[in-house]
Amino acid sequence: MEMISRDKGRGVFICIEGIDGSGKTTAARRVVKALMEKGYDAVYTAEPSKGVFGNIVKKSILQGTKRFPKVLEAVIFAVDRVDHIENEIRPQLNAGRIVVCDRYLYSSIAYQGTSRRMLEWVREINKHAIKPDLAIYIDVPPEVMVDRIKRKKSVMETWETQKRVREAYLKQVREGQLEIVEGNVSKNDVAQAIDHLISDYLKKSYAC
Ligand code: TYD
Repeated sequence: MEMISRDKGRGVFICIEGIDGSGKTTAARRVVKALMEKGYDAVYTAEPSKGVFGNIVKKSILQGTKRFPKVLEAVIFAVDRVDHIENEIRPQLNAGRIVVCDRYLYSSIAYQGTSRRMLEWVREINKHAIKPDLAIYIDVPPEVMVDRIKRKKSVMETWETQKRVREAYLKQVREGQLEIVEGNVSKNDVAQAIDHLISDYLKKSYAC
């Protein structure tokens, strides 16, 4: 099947955000599948990335017994982001594809931007990150984390962290940085709501 891709250098960059257990990975994967079924050339990617720095994050930072200093977390996520952009996101966009990224800069702001000073600094060290065309936040109350916290997979999965992170995401929604989607509904409904946002964007952007 002939894929719809745009001219070189004119791909579309979409990212999907949410607290741990918000269903964003399932939603992002479904969205990519739906886009491909419509004939768009779309790819799924995620942060932490699959690159060397992403692996350090997964093995050393997230699977430890306690959290590393926030400054260290912020730096390593930012370093992984540079690597991810240069080796994955930018080349895919240059090939005209739709890149759907599971977590991005907004995660660093929500998880590591814990004070005004940290927030400013996190923004500063991520200044060179490409701005997404569409940034979507799936909102769920932290109660959905309860089961997951019992099976705790990472240092981030505590009640306090998730509650604070949700507030930080909602603040980014109020500031107009993220589009909100209700996440406490069926997986199908979440994917459909995201699909609508993306379709609207694509109608506008592929028309020109
Ligand atoms: P993720 O892979 O989405 O976790 P899971 O697959 O278990 O849902 O994300 C891993 C964790 O990394 C998540 O708790 C959020 C955290 N994180 C940050 O703290 N800052 C960041 O910049 C990113 C990208 C992730």
